[in-house]
Amino acid sequence: MSFIEIKGLSKIFLQGNQKIYGIRNANLSIEKGTFMSVIGRSGSGKSTFLNLVGGIENPTSGEVFFDGKSIHQFKDKELTKFRNQHIGYVFQQYHLLKELTVLENIRLPLDIGRKAYDHSYEEELLDLLGLKDRTDFYPSQLSGGQQQRVAIARALITRPDLILADEPTGNLDKQSGDQIIRFMKETNRLFGLTYIIVTHNKEIADYTDREITIDDGEIINDIDLLDVRENEVIK
Ligand SMILES: Nc1ncnc2c1ncn2[C@@H]1O[C@H](COP(=O)(O)OP(=O)(O)O)[C@@H](O)[C@H]1O
Ligand SMILES: [Mg+2]
Repeated sequence: MSFIEIKGLSKIFLQGNQKIYGIRNANLSIEKGTFMSVIGRSGSGKSTFLNLVGGIENPTSGEVFFDGKSIHQFKDKELTKFRNQHIGYVFQQYHLLKELTVLENIRLPLDIGRKAYDHSYEEELLDLLGLKDRTDFYPSQLSGGQQQRVAIARALITRPDLILADEPTGNLDKQSGDQIIRFMKETNRLFGLTYIIVTHNKEIADYTDREITIDDGEIINDIDLLDVRENEVIK
């Protein structure tokens, strides 16, 4: 079994007595360390897909297996614990707490989980993300790109196995967006961290190693970009 196995996954939303398909019968295997993107039009089901994989939403049918365990079978408490241990989230709107400094924001998941700080890992992240001289700043004193880098450090501080990112570059100019995706790729490479990145930006998606396309709730395309690039070099 792969790191993540998605089997027959569907989500139907009820709007009055109208059924709206968020996701229709998705089947997918994702290996550990995959750097993957999810593209598709607005309303196609990308966020729903991400929320199902992260256990934020429950499917109508089907399952998500994480290291062989079906996450939607967990009780609420187990699911929260599982999410805190294994998954980091990055959103379009950075969701930083404005009354906390950069360092306090980054350490927040450890404080909530009552975990000890790992100072050398913290230094490594601050260094990688270019935040070393910003640790005492407040979010309002940072650029959008810097705020998103803080959000990434906060997602990584608990050493998760999987990062789920929903339009992480959606609010950023091209240069800051490119920088964010490079940071993500670097931490993917260094820590073997698996990424699923939702984006409607094809250039961002092309930077990843595997690209799936969702249309009207359905996975209609699944491309191994590593393979594509290798063949381009040979040609
Ligand atoms: N809570 C909800 N209730 C009803 N419909 C929803 C809900 N969340 C999403 N949807 C519908 O599911 C579809 C997919 O939405 P979403 O996953 O947010 O798309 P995307 O992220 O690709 O823009 C859309 O038609 C949307 O209106
Ligand atoms: Mg969305």
